[in-house]
Amino acid sequence: MKKVLLLCMAVLGALLIVSGCGSTANKDNGTSDPKVLKVATNADFAPFEFQGEEGKSYQGFDMDLIRAIGKQMGMQVKINNLSFDGLIPALQTGNIDAVISGMSINDERKKKVAFSDPYYESGLTIMVKADNNDIKSFKDLQGKRIAVQIGTTSAKEAKKIPNAQVKELNSSADTFLELKAGNVDAVINDKPVNDYYKVKNGDNSVKRVGDKLTSESYGIAVKKDNTKLVKKINDALKKLKENGEYNKLYKKWFGVEPTADNK
Ligand code: ARG
Repeated sequence: MKKVLLLCMAVLGALLIVSGCGSTANKDNGTSDPKVLKVATNADFAPFEFQGEEGKSYQGFDMDLIRAIGKQMGMQVKINNLSFDGLIPALQTGNIDAVISGMSINDERKKKVAFSDPYYESGLTIMVKADNNDIKSFKDLQGKRIAVQIGTTSAKEAKKIPNAQVKELNSSADTFLELKAGNVDAVINDKPVNDYYKVKNGDNSVKRVGDKLTSESYGIAVKKDNTKLVKKINDALKKLKENGEYNKLYKKWFGVEPTADNK
């Protein structure tokens, strides 16, 4: 009788240990707090990330998407607003878990961080004043004054243009202001952001010119060795693409269904 009891207890104990291990494994998302996903963005990039009129709530496609991803992972999402060039350093020091900020996946960045699967297809375009008739494409930017946001792919491309004077500013909003003030001849920026600015503000003092210079895919970045978190994010993203949630958010912010590229 005693033996049976002992055996029962041993089996029970083993079960408890196994189930205990199981639950910690499930909770291990590669984050310091299994319940909170600490996310950083540079919230001046509508329609991807921006702050509401009252200056508090974070809105945009990226913001909705990362909240949906968090929900899928059973985590609460906390957003931090940092400068764009401070995002990768913040990941590297481990102050935050993930970056979603219309950030283009490229080899240079892949040396420093790991990216999720792509979630949006983008590229760069030019904006000039409405009355500018000599800048019609990227070729016409030689020797011109160009505003870009610091640390972006636009800054990188602008610097390749012969004899251009490149002004690197803190936000994409600042680049538009500089253009309107006549302090630069052109702005290089992500196409969807230029398009949104033009349409949303009904701003007739500026216009978009030329085709996309580059093709860039946005990804969510995490610390370079954090394969656990990349996997969790990719699984959640895949789920959202399958269950229609991704399409819903895409339609909400871009007015159309995603193209085959984005799906
Ligand atoms: N896609 C560009 C890049 O990765 C610009 C991103 C700017 N994002 C922002 N939230 N300001 O460099």
